[in-house]
Amino acid sequence: MNVIIGSDHAGYQMKEKVIAHLLKLGIEVEDVGTHDEESVDYTDFGRQVASKVSDASFDRGILMCGTGLGMSMVANRFPRVRAALANDLFSAIMSRRHNDSNILVMGGRLIGDTLAMQLVDTWLDTPFEGGRHQRRLEKMDAE
Ligand code: RB5
Repeated sequence: MNVIIGSDHAGYQMKEKVIAHLLKLGIEVEDVGTHDEESVDYTDFGRQVASKVSDASFDRGILMCGTGLGMSMVANRFPRVRAALANDLFSAIMSRRHNDSNILVMGGRLIGDTLAMQLVDTWLDTPFEGGRHQRRLEKMDAE
């Protein structure tokens, strides 16, 4: 599995820790930035990550901003992207089981690092259940 990751300034500190965590797990990670805490537009980084998941260059994406709201709004404008804002474990699990989420979004100003790493681990490990949920996903892209 390969993962593309991005954040704005409000998610930067968390992003750095998530990258270190993923590398420790042996997961290939592409970091689109941002690379410091200077104020930037979350839109620019959300678009880069979402476009690469949308065109299947990457299996999964992870995005962080202050709340996770802006990033999830941006990411979900891209075809085939199912970005899940999950600042709690139940949402992270269900976003995989029922929604086959391919981008995890977290709020750097809302949750601590320990929870963030648990969310990442859980989200990476939880399979999609398919079946009736697959039918519902197909309806998302219906004309
Ligand atoms: C930046 O101040 C903040 O607006 C951004 O990180 C994010 O929370 C937007 O949704």
